[in-house]
Amino acid sequence: MSLSREQMLVEMGITPIWVLRDSEPSVPALEGREDVVVEPAHAPAPEEAAALLPETAPAARPLPDVALRPMTPVDTLNWPELAKQVAECRACPLCEQRKQAVLGVGDLNPDWLFIGEGPGAEEDVKGEPFVGQAGKLLDAMLASLDIARGNRVYIANAVKCRPPGNRTPEAAEMAACWPYLERQIALLKPKIIVLLGKAAVHAVLHDDKSLASLRGKPYEYAGIPLVVTYHPAYLLRNLPDKAKAWEDLLFARRMLVASNQ
Ligand code: URA
Repeated sequence: MSLSREQMLVEMGITPIWVLRDSEPSVPALEGREDVVVEPAHAPAPEEAAALLPETAPAARPLPDVALRPMTPVDTLNWPELAKQVAECRACPLCEQRKQAVLGVGDLNPDWLFIGEGPGAEEDVKGEPFVGQAGKLLDAMLASLDIARGNRVYIANAVKCRPPGNRTPEAAEMAACWPYLERQIALLKPKIIVLLGKAAVHAVLHDDKSLASLRGKPYEYAGIPLVVTYHPAYLLRNLPDKAKAWEDLLFARRMLVASNQ
């Protein structure tokens, strides 16, 4: 089923907020305003995008990138080798209850890389990330950016195996899985990374501050622009924050446009 842009925004829960075509104001400032018109599809020109970006330096410290630490065998894997190693991985206790490891899905030459937390029950069965309710919202978020699963986007998780009961993955589990995600990022070379929720932020930026304090700022991982936003499962429970997530996606798109200059 193909949705119109308005239906997608309804799906994201951010209509009837409307954005001014020329100024792209802060969405939270418009919360509750049904009289202001927003044009979410407005992609700024590159020079406009660069001007809109804050000049602040990255605030979080990512894990050292490959060039700054000793090489490991995972660093040289190609996609089929990586997929095999992840499928057979026994590096942490999550392997004991998984039905299958979930590597990731999407375009192997993407502009966008979205990183979530870990597979849930449905993902564990289907072997694909974000196929449940949170996945439907993520798809709507992608559609609102005019992108779709498999086309210019890759979706991965901080851990590849389902944490029992869908609990948050532990730090040690994310650390055990990190070499795989790190290799995925190196192979994918995305132009922008979007971290969905606290676990992804912990895995990539090693920062445990609140999402509210981390979002809205530009970060970088291995030279790749990166933004932080809320996890879709959180947004399903906290509807007012969908507007902030939408603002974060617009921010990410501005960073992507600026990085393409
Ligand atoms: N939540 C995630 O973070 N990842 C998935 O794959 C599914 C739900």
